[in-house]
Amino acid sequence: MMNLAMDRMVPLVMALSVALLALTACDGKSAATATASTAAPRTPALSTQAQVGQLAFFDKNLSGGRNMSCASCHDPQYAYGPPNSISVQLGSDITQTGARAVPSLRYRESTPAFSQDAPNPDGVTSNSPGGGFMWDGRGATMAAQVALPLLNPVEMNNTSREAVVKAVRDGAYAGLFKQAFGAGIFDDTDAAFDALGTAIQALETEDLSFHPYSSKYDLYVFNKIGGTLTPAERRGEVLFHSTGVSNCSGCHYTGANFNGNSGLMTDFTYQALGAPRNDRSIPNNPDPIPANDDPRYFDMGLCGPFRTDHMPATPATANPYCGMFKVPVLRNVATRGAFFHNGVLHSLDQVVNFYNTRDTNPEYWYPAHSDSAGTGTAQANPAWALQPTSVPGATVDRYNDLPHAQQGSIDEEVPLGTGEGGDKTLASGTRPRAPGSPPVMTPQQIADLVCFLGTLSDGYQPSSAPSTAGRCVK
Ligand code: HEC
Ligand code: HEC
Repeated sequence: MMNLAMDRMVPLVMALSVALLALTACDGKSAATATASTAAPRTPALSTQAQVGQLAFFDKNLSGGRNMSCASCHDPQYAYGPPNSISVQLGSDITQTGARAVPSLRYRESTPAFSQDAPNPDGVTSNSPGGGFMWDGRGATMAAQVALPLLNPVEMNNTSREAVVKAVRDGAYAGLFKQAFGAGIFDDTDAAFDALGTAIQALETEDLSFHPYSSKYDLYVFNKIGGTLTPAERRGEVLFHSTGVSNCSGCHYTGANFNGNSGLMTDFTYQALGAPRNDRSIPNNPDPIPANDDPRYFDMGLCGPFRTDHMPATPATANPYCGMFKVPVLRNVATRGAFFHNGVLHSLDQVVNFYNTRDTNPEYWYPAHSDSAGTGTAQANPAWALQPTSVPGATVDRYNDLPHAQQGSIDEEVPLGTGEGGDKTLASGTRPRAPGSPPVMTPQQIADLVCFLGTLSDGYQPSSAPSTAGRCVK
């Protein structure tokens, strides 16, 4: 069996050097050329505002160091997600890294505005926090979101709105910008800065490369030009919807959303899955989040630190919003190399095994308490576990990326716990699965689910001779 640490280390080191190359080696022009050739299908005619947005999206002059565009992190060749498997990306100031994994920008156009009392698209589940952009929903609209990376010191690192507007005014598409937003647009810095957001939102909405619906799943479900799933993929699809076993679609909702689009694999709600802390407590962790070196720092999603309207009164005051992150769109998830808001997991196999064994085998995912590290010899954990070994009898530091007082909102819905759809809280009778009890999914079911997730990648070419070998065929 391959050593997990080495297995993960090699692609990550390679990815890091690719990231550095991307930051230093290519200019805005080559990035734009690369896009034109890869981001099919193309919308016939973008509006003038969206054309501005397209030029701005690839414009490295919009970063403090003139070395990073939106596309550096949201690469069109990777479904507008990160081009490597690093947990959190480097910023324009390359001594800085962010604190969260970069999401794909595909299929974001039907995300409703954030509300803490949002209706659920399934029409059955009661209202809960939902909608909004970013892992914590603090971006109100796609246009307003644009200010966040531009002005974030660990991302594009501009010092002010003025600096961004100056870069546009002095740049190659200043004329087109005036054509789109009026001859006097640069006279008002705030209006010009907001117009840049409007332009990028227009691009993300109009350009079909942000929502191509060209996956094998689309061909199968909507039968646009024919296409069938293999037996393994089909079993995975059935499981994805099975309320009692995998229950994936309980949160990664596949029905029609508010605007009628279906198959996005999210209900836009927020849940606390208890993802392991991405820090040095994971042996051989190739890319721990630097902010996590401070034991008092916790990224708790809806309750802060980046959004500030649901913060607990004191760190010890229980707050139901803590630990909640947005249910992500699962389209193109197989093109990613880092999963969950903190990028702590690095393969789909790991993700599905986490759902299956978070409660039954917490020793696979969380470190042991230093004062109760168990006795006896360490045993090898499965290859996909984050903790390579565990010692029998050790007390495991469960849900270690949330302070103790904030662990009450941890989700115990199937498959994580025993709660039925919508019945997510311990108060309503839901139970965690007991440590040592059997996990709900078999290895075969996990493999089938991963095969199904692979059908969600855009750009599928139905081949005339379907492959007869490979793990997703039979
Ligand atoms: C240094 C990497 C980086 C750069 C550059 C960057 N982003 Fe992001 N982007 C991220 C990260 C990380 C997140 C998630 C942040 C969070 O949840 O707090 C994100 C989130 C987003 C989202 C929200 C997606 C969702 O699912 O809610 C949008 C939209 C977005 N970025 C657009 C842009 C645009 C437009 C630009 C250029 C102006 C840009 N980004 C530049 C890293 C980056
Ligand atoms: C209780 C709601 C819920 C259920 C049930 C659920 N998920 Fe998730 N899923 C989430 C949330 C919330 C996240 C983001 C968590 C985070 O970042 O901390 C997530 C993240 C993921 C990711 C990582 C995506 C990314 O871009 O990083 C994958 C893959 C995934 N889920 C697949 C599944 C599969 C497969 C199932 C069924 C076995 C499933 N989920 C069941 C809520 C759920």
